[in-house]
Amino acid sequence: MIYLTRRERFNAAHKLYRDDWSVEKNEAVFGKCANANWHGHNYEVFVTVKGEINEATGFVVDLKELSIVLKNKVVDPLDHRNINLDVPFMKGKMASTEILAIEIWKEIQKEVEALGCQLHCVKVQETENNSVEYYG
Ligand code: NI
Repeated sequence: MIYLTRRERFNAAHKLYRDDWSVEKNEAVFGKCANANWHGHNYEVFVTVKGEINEATGFVVDLKELSIVLKNKVVDPLDHRNINLDVPFMKGKMASTEILAIEIWKEIQKEVEALGCQLHCVKVQETENNSVEYYG
């Protein structure tokens, strides 16, 4: 078994808030992240796949094909978007890094596995200091 990680990047806006909470409670829980007029991050996503090496190619997965899946399913839907408003797979969900990692996993799992490997980890890095890893 060998592991391979592909990084992708996107810039997106979001805020953390609940409509069913008061402004005061949202600010108390989410702080600056609840700012009504949004804020943005330069996100990085690290997708790790695992599998056996193809003897003919020496690859666990064709990186060209993996990057096409990630472009179509992750970068294009998220880049320069508002995560709360514009991204179909985040509709009605909290725009936290945790939820984003889980929803990206769900978005890509089938197509990644169709490339002949298994999805191992989706890591979403929101800032230099904060990242989330989801293992399914
Ligand atoms: Ni934020």
